[in-house]
Amino acid sequence: MRINKFLAECGIASRRNCEALVLEGRVKVNNKKVLKLATDVDPESDLVSVDDKPVKPIGKHLYIMLNKPKGYVCTTSDELGRKTVMELLKDKYPGKRIFPVGRLDFDTEGLLLLTTDGDLANRLMHPRNEISKTYVAKIEGEISEADLNKLRSGVELDGVKTKKCKVKLLGFDENMSRIEVVITEGRNRQVRRMFESINRDVVFLKRTAIGDIKLGGLYRGNFRELKANESEYLKKI
Ligand code: URA
Repeated sequence: MRINKFLAECGIASRRNCEALVLEGRVKVNNKKVLKLATDVDPESDLVSVDDKPVKPIGKHLYIMLNKPKGYVCTTSDELGRKTVMELLKDKYPGKRIFPVGRLDFDTEGLLLLTTDGDLANRLMHPRNEISKTYVAKIEGEISEADLNKLRSGVELDGVKTKKCKVKLLGFDENMSRIEVVITEGRNRQVRRMFESINRDVVFLKRTAIGDIKLGGLYRGNFRELKANESEYLKKI
């Protein structure tokens, strides 16, 4: 098996990023540094290490959904000392290299996928794949059909128009409009900035679905492993 595939199966990173580790001279096979991407390893008998730490295939990858509460960052560690989504997994998976697939802002809540499968994470995040992401946003006051249409047909963010998207008014109560927005891009703070472009501030933002994967009734702060049909769906993307 090719060295990069082997390393990806150990959950080190995506195959592409594992190639970089090889080229950087950080990978050894049977205690000898390997620099060639064409290196083959025998998973049964070869001893492989990264930065001198032995690595082993993890067998089955983990696919987890989390209902991220606001007030958490989507990184594995934070230099500002803020709480990370990893803390919510409560050490249930010791020794597993699990990382979030993409990000939700500190103040955004809802569906976040986490996995050990770097290849799958890269595919999900690649703009070419145009995976839909569904959000519910709340803004104060009513919103006009004209403004909803502006969001639907695309608004300029940093001089580049957002792609056409689905926007639906879900309801209006207690002076708040609840709006569902389905986008296929993942630009920085996209939903909040789309509303800012029509001079409206988002006061609440929650992601409810990624493609066909739905958050459903998972409680805030809770997580669960994906069901087989859900992870199979993701693997086909
Ligand atoms: N759009 C935002 O503005 N924030 C998020 O966290 C995700 C999408």
